[in-house]
This record gives sequence, structure tokens and C-alpha cells, in this order.
Amino acid sequence: MTVADLPKVELHLHLEGAAPPKFNRGLAKEKALDISGIFAQDGGYAFSDFWHFLKVYEAATGALQTPEDYHRLTLAVLRESAASGVVYSEMFLSPDFCGGRDLSAWREYLKAIEEAAAIAQKTDGIVLKGIVTAIRHFGPDKGRETAVCAAETAGDFLVGFGLAGDEKIGKPKDFAWCFDMAREAGLRLTAHAGEWGGPESVRDAVHDLRVERIGHGVRAIEDPALVDELAEKGIVLEVCPGSNVALGIYPAWRAHPISELRNRGVKVTVSTDDPPFFHTTMAREFDRLADAFDWDEAVFRDINRTAINAAFCDQQKRQDILKRLEP
Ligand code: ADE
Ligand code: ZN
Repeated sequence: MTVADLPKVELHLHLEGAAPPKFNRGLAKEKALDISGIFAQDGGYAFSDFWHFLKVYEAATGALQTPEDYHRLTLAVLRESAASGVVYSEMFLSPDFCGGRDLSAWREYLKAIEEAAAIAQKTDGIVLKGIVTAIRHFGPDKGRETAVCAAETAGDFLVGFGLAGDEKIGKPKDFAWCFDMAREAGLRLTAHAGEWGGPESVRDAVHDLRVERIGHGVRAIEDPALVDELAEKGIVLEVCPGSNVALGIYPAWRAHPISELRNRGVKVTVSTDDPPFFHTTMAREFDRLADAFDWDEAVFRDINRTAINAAFCDQQKRQDILKRLEP
């Protein structure tokens, strides 16, 4: 057995970003939409930098137009995840793309996603929970509508609220109202920071949004006092090494700070972000990390435990998954 065969917990996966290119090409064909410009010769997604990635991501999402499309997408993505050994997954869901932040439309999309999750749980044993995500470059006004969608549908399936998108636009505190609303509705909180923004973006997310997890957060490594603060507060980083290397934040796997952050006491977990965009899977992330840092099975088991302990599900589900992670 290799580490790639271990059962896994994934906390940071964008549903639209996990759509296989073939899936979106097929949907576009059914709807007679031309999205051929977003694909490379080899059939994968083509983009030149992060900003372009966000544009290609949004164009690919144009093929997803109905709750039924999201039902099929959720099933396809969960089957890929399960094939990679994932037993528990948290996914970022966007009312921006699912019904344009209209609450009754959002309810329909969410129902379709939940129904697909129930099927995948039966057939593939994978458990899914959802995190509604505001998109930073769409601005705080749309963020507020997104937060209302999240607060109104919080429950056993919809367990968290987050912030994704272009970190260079605006500040986390522009979204404080959204996070306060989500917190009051009982949702747990995470925000993307320290991916394109420096350590100050991580500090701002922790202080101004009072999140318990950070999406990426890896650039905290540039500020030793912040690394100590994250370790002391037990803030969990949803690290996506393959995404960071593919987008050029780090030139190679060995240059990635995940191992140093872990050695300095920060709680790190491993996820894929938008796997087909970055030519990765959870099994591949585990393999590449084992190669880069000489990590053995015990390290990956520890990372899985950190992830399920930081998951936004209830205690009963956590205990069930912990059992499935045992050797
Ligand atoms: N949306 C999808 N992937 C993202 C990423 N890596 N960073 C910010 N927003 C995203
Ligand atoms: Zn992300």
C-alpha cells in the first residue's frame, strides 16, 4: 500500500472548479454553447495566470445552467473524489452561479446538489457537506445576498460560509457583515487568504472575519509572528499544494511551505482546490507530498485526523469518519 491508497478527508474543493473538462464540453454541446476557447489542445482547461484562471473558471461555469446540471456535476465530482480515496468532502457552493443569488432558485439548486450527495453516499460511501462561498471580486453587495442565501439554508448539509475569488480586490472586512450573519445562523467560517495576498491578508481574515479556518494561508510563512499566532490559536489551513504550484505561487513542490508550517506547529490539511484545472487529484497530492518531503503514512494519517477534527460536520459524523480513517 502507498500513501495514495489511504482514506482521505478533503476540506477545500470548489464544485464548479472540480468539473472535468469533458463534463463541461458535453453540457455545452447539449446546449449548443461555444466554450471551445477555454480549452487547450490536449482537452484540458487553458489559462495563463490566476486572473485568467478566474475568467476561464467563470466561462466554464456558463455551461452549468440548471439544478439538474448541478445534480449531474455533483455526482460526477463525488465519484472522482471517492475514486481518489476521499471519504469525507466539504465543497464550496456559490449562489452566484446557482440561480444568481435568488433565494428560491438557490433552494432548488441546493436540493439538487443534496440529492446527488445522498446518492453518492449510498453508492460510493463518500460524505459531502456544503460551504456557501461569497466571491470577493463580485463585491460586498452581492456578498450580502449570498450570505442571506446561506443563512436561510443553514442546516445538516449546509454547514459553513466562506469567501473565495480575487484576493487583490477589496479587504476581508468589507465582508464582515456577511460573516456576522452567517455566524449568527450557526454556520462555521473559513476565508481564502494568504494565497495571492501576503501575511497581512491572513491576519485580516482571522481578526476581521473571525474565521476558524483559512483557505490556503500559506503565505503566512513570510511572517514568523503570524505563524506563531496561527499555531497558538489552532487556526487550520486548508492547504492546496498542487494548486499553488500550478498557479506559480511556488516554483516546485519542494519549495512549498506546507512542511515548514507543520513543523512550526500550524494545523495543516491537504486539498485539491480545483483539481482538473491543476491536473491533480487527492491521491496525486498525497503522492507528490510524500516525494517532496519524505512524509510517511503516519504524517498523512495525522493530517487526515487534523482535517476531520476541523470539519464543519456534527460530532456524530466526525466520530463515524474517524473510525473509517483508522488503520
Ligand atoms: N475560486 C476557485 N479557485 C480559487 C482559488 N484558488 N482562489 C480563489 N478563488 C478561487
Ligand atoms: Zn480555493
